[in-house]
Amino acid sequence: MTGHVSRRMLLKGASLSAISIMLSPAFARVGPVRDARIERLIAAMTLEEKAGQLSIFSDPSRVDGPPVNPGLVAQSMATVQREIAAGRMTGLYNGIGVAAGRELQRVAVEQGPHRIPLIFAGDVIHGMKTTFPVPLGEAASFDPELARRTARAAAVEASAKGIQWVFAPMVDVARDQRWGRVVEGAGEDTWLGCQFAAARVRGFQGDDLTAEDSVLACPKHFAGYGAVMGGMDYNTADIPETTLRETHLPPFKAAFDVGALSTMASFNDIAGVPSTGNHHLLTDILRGEMGFAGLVVSDYTADAEMIAHGFAADGPDAVVKALNAGCDISMQSGLYNAHLPALVRSGRIAMKTVDTAVRRVLRVKQALGLFDNPYRSLDLAREARDVRLPAAIALAREAAVKSVVLLKNDGDLLPLSTTAKIALIGPCVSDKGDMPGPWASFPDFASCVTPEAGFRAAMGPTARLEIARGCDYEAPLAGGIARAVAAAKAADVIVLVIGESARMSGEAQARVEITIPAPQQALAEALAATGRPMVVLLRHGRALALSGAVRNAPAILATWFLGSETGHAMADIVFGAAAPQGRLPVSFPQASGQEPFFYDHRTTGRPQLGADPAWKARYREVTTEALYPFGHGLSYATARYSGTTVSAPILAGDGAITVSALVSNTGKRRLHEVAQLYVHDKVASLTQPVRVLKGISHLDLDPGQRARVAFTLTRADLAFVHPDARRFAEPGAFDVWVAPSSVAGIPVSIVLD
Ligand code: NOJ
Repeated sequence: MTGHVSRRMLLKGASLSAISIMLSPAFARVGPVRDARIERLIAAMTLEEKAGQLSIFSDPSRVDGPPVNPGLVAQSMATVQREIAAGRMTGLYNGIGVAAGRELQRVAVEQGPHRIPLIFAGDVIHGMKTTFPVPLGEAASFDPELARRTARAAAVEASAKGIQWVFAPMVDVARDQRWGRVVEGAGEDTWLGCQFAAARVRGFQGDDLTAEDSVLACPKHFAGYGAVMGGMDYNTADIPETTLRETHLPPFKAAFDVGALSTMASFNDIAGVPSTGNHHLLTDILRGEMGFAGLVVSDYTADAEMIAHGFAADGPDAVVKALNAGCDISMQSGLYNAHLPALVRSGRIAMKTVDTAVRRVLRVKQALGLFDNPYRSLDLAREARDVRLPAAIALAREAAVKSVVLLKNDGDLLPLSTTAKIALIGPCVSDKGDMPGPWASFPDFASCVTPEAGFRAAMGPTARLEIARGCDYEAPLAGGIARAVAAAKAADVIVLVIGESARMSGEAQARVEITIPAPQQALAEALAATGRPMVVLLRHGRALALSGAVRNAPAILATWFLGSETGHAMADIVFGAAAPQGRLPVSFPQASGQEPFFYDHRTTGRPQLGADPAWKARYREVTTEALYPFGHGLSYATARYSGTTVSAPILAGDGAITVSALVSNTGKRRLHEVAQLYVHDKVASLTQPVRVLKGISHLDLDPGQRARVAFTLTRADLAFVHPDARRFAEPGAFDVWVAPSSVAGIPVSIVLD
């Protein structure tokens, strides 16, 4: 990934702040491999206490937020305190609140056998009380620096609420939109995923991991979880190791390279081996090849789930397989506590293996400064002061605005005038409960801005605004469509906010059809029949397959789940106070049945290049082109690309060439453009993707202004993973594009010597 970083640093147009962050030397590091204090502790601990250091449990002090795991029977607080005093847990997760955390920490450091501090973790996926756009939406900004800033703000709030370790970022590359967890990551592209993975880790961990407002990051889920077959959660990932290395591992490497000191093993199996028990993955690749120095935590009860997988015979066997594979901490099952001591005594697990895992855990606690300051991030004053700060709320609005993608704007229907007569329709338009979106584990519903509130704020007291729900998210409402149609008829323009509810994506929310739910589609059809112009604001945790009145609406915006400031951000875009600038991090297919559907698919022997579809790689019903491709996004101005040139036709040795193009603002408003660099290896020893993203550059242009955007291309950018796991480029011809999306532009040719 360092190749990417150095190349990015050379990009003309890359912001100075982004460059200075890349140069920041302050990445988190663990201390020396053998630290005297840690070694003394390991020597003094009983086997039971060692098992406890390798076990984490759900925090009973969790008082708000939706359930995020199945069948959770939290232990009572009294039991938890007893267990802590006996040294039988390393930490707790998904609790909240400083007072309870301080009390539990007091028990650990005053009564625990070796005074080892606890660590408090939580699923902080896109903010804490101030909710930012879902990670997929934020990836649509194509702006990793924005993600660093929101992760930093989330870290400030999470640490103020007593959390020291976040189970984030999710860096799984997701190429099948049926999978519900697409929403948690950066989309379908590996290069973009690397930029966002690194940025989010930097944001969470800050410049100094011991700081009160820094939290330990946990890039997850290691590995291949985004490739679950059929998009069904928890399913097998049936991928070759070359694909694992080419597509799925690089974002983890990017996260580790900037100092992430923990990772979570994934639920899925690859080639028949569940990740929790996968020695090749957790030890050979993660520790051996990637040089990861941190700890591995299992996913929730995933060690026990190896029994259901048919990979472990029983609890003890699951512990043997998980610990020997390199899974240091068992989350929630309690299996390590139950069986590890006896397994060591009977010789099935070596004491050395246990000590290695304990050492990793203690070193990470030390890197967080917990030994010197067990009450770090457990500060009542900060809890009162550092949550919902005005700067965080402003950032939530900025991030939400930058996450919106304008898919279509026929006849320049958008932006609308704030004095227009508008019918604002959809199940969520006045529903604060849906605003935080999926995987908002600790939401503050009360402070969320609904679309209605946002529109009213923008339109002022004289607003001519009709409001109607029309239907529920997945069910009709009695008389709902009739009321919505009446509202539409009383207005000049319809703004329809439809799509998925927050509950329809996220963990275990795989869908067979990635369509607008039928009652909402029926609402859209009825509204379109009124003949009023219709703006569609989609809400979604994945790419959708659009049809009928939704697909045919003159203006369509992808708005994902925008978080606390949803309504304000929607109004900013709809009324033109801000222009859309997002780009799709996932391809919108023509139909659900095309999934998995992603832009950088390999070339087939029968690509459908011309008009004749006969005997070509295609479906009967739809074209092979995306409805809206990866990288697509319009603005209220228009961009024209011309004159792509290369500084030299041949790239030799370790040199570099510059690829540049002229971008002109041919519109009437200021343009924020995201120029994209793509490459294609024309002939190689393995079939290659039709295009692969290798760089992005943001530029702002006034009407009539033009600028040359330049990218530096090196041999490393043209490399791919070979069957022997080595990554190198093969000499030959390449196509190179500087383009506004993954399907646009005319390539220039270069030769790699
Ligand atoms: C299961 C999820 O897969 C994981 O992402 C999450 O961190 C844990 N549950 C803990 O809540």
